[in-house]
Amino acid sequence: MPNTVLVGAQWGDEGKGKIIDVLTDEADIVVRMQGGNNAGHTVIVGKKKYVLHLIPSGILRARKKCIIGNGVVLDPVHLVGEIDGLLKLKINVKGRLFISENAHVVLPYHRALDELRETSKGKTKIGTTKRGIGPTYGDKVARVGIRLGDMLNKERFATLLKDRVRVNNEFLKANGLKPISYKKVLDQYSAAADRLKPFVTNTLILIHEALRQNKRLLFEGAQGTFLDIDHGTYPYVTSSATTSGGACTGAGVPPNRIDRVVGVMKAYTTRVGGGPFITEDDMLGDMFHGMGREFGATTGRARRCGWLDLVMLQHACMVNGFDDLSITNLDGLDQLDTIKVCVAYRLNGKKIQHMPSSHLDLEVCEPVYETFKGWKTSTEECQKWSDLPLRARQYLKAIESKTGVKISSVSVGPDRKQTIQL
Ligand code: GDP
Ligand code: IMO
Ligand code: MG
Repeated sequence: MPNTVLVGAQWGDEGKGKIIDVLTDEADIVVRMQGGNNAGHTVIVGKKKYVLHLIPSGILRARKKCIIGNGVVLDPVHLVGEIDGLLKLKINVKGRLFISENAHVVLPYHRALDELRETSKGKTKIGTTKRGIGPTYGDKVARVGIRLGDMLNKERFATLLKDRVRVNNEFLKANGLKPISYKKVLDQYSAAADRLKPFVTNTLILIHEALRQNKRLLFEGAQGTFLDIDHGTYPYVTSSATTSGGACTGAGVPPNRIDRVVGVMKAYTTRVGGGPFITEDDMLGDMFHGMGREFGATTGRARRCGWLDLVMLQHACMVNGFDDLSITNLDGLDQLDTIKVCVAYRLNGKKIQHMPSSHLDLEVCEPVYETFKGWKTSTEECQKWSDLPLRARQYLKAIESKTGVKISSVSVGPDRKQTIQL
């Protein structure tokens, strides 16, 4: 397998963790390049369920190396907890996990600001994961962030932190909130720094050594195309580049060293948090939630559910340059009599084929649907293309034909084994 970037084609939770785990079999190194512990990537191996937030999903395959790149925002205390969680499950990370010294650190004042901004927005809140992601990226862009490399240098960290806590406390107090204790944060983060030190390195050098040795790199996107800070449904987005280009900036891999871009998508659509969702359908949501599925892996919130939106998908194909698509959760549609697919929007009475740029226009678009007959049989045991019911194959072929992108795998259940490779 050549160097591959895998990203979500919708609003996150497409099943990236599962597909990364499957593809890791043929990779040497798995790299996270953006986002933070707002991500929740589920991998199910046999009877065991793992949810990874910061550590690449490749860690579950013995001997594979994992890198957390410079573009990630990293909560060190959370990361130590995640490492310990894996150690408890007898998954060794020593000598396998490498973290960029340039990754920006999420601090308690970022989480407090995330919460404050959400509360003050009232009804228009984004519905963030409250992990401090937006404020941390905000500090990075404003050039007042603290990076992991800074945190490992005790004196430097103390000086930077003191200043940042002072500035942020002024703001928190002005808003009637409790100030952050500099001493407490310094102690807690210094302890985390001691634990993380053996893993922290210049990952750019590591990645380029791997490229020179023709190692196979797999870049694991977090979130999804429509949560991208530039290409998503702004302002209802996250604060990083979740599209394929994010691998270049977030890990330092040059564009001409990327051989393949895989888009992971559900056979329908889900979204967590606020913002426009044209094909949202409460009937589907009730059905999935009743089956105990479509609850967030990070916050446990019920995901909003809707039909597949091909207008969005075509947009995702443009932005990411997908070479192939990996379709997950096909089994979610198994029991439906009819399945709807959005093929165009109607905006102010006019049929359009592209997503409007403004979320205000998008919110008032109406979906134009094509309807497919359901296959009404379980696909969960299907192992190859020809095992799939004819109507399921027709549904998948329609996705290929409307996007012009071939499907490389179809997932019919959460387990590694429930993956049909095409
Ligand atoms: P990610 O954030 O993209 O890695 O996705 P999440 O882990 O947040 O959410 C995807 C959910 O769908 C998880 O609970 C997975 O175990 C589950 N999943 C992935 N693929 C399939 C599938 O084909 N069928 C079913 N039933 N579940 C799946
Ligand atoms: P994975 O990697 C789904 C959503 C939040 C909110 C918006 C902004 O598991 O697919 P943030 O905390 O990032 O500032 O929240 O983005 N969001 C996700 N939704 N999957 C994710 O990650 C998400 N990460 C953030 O719900 O709407
Ligand atoms: Mg998720």
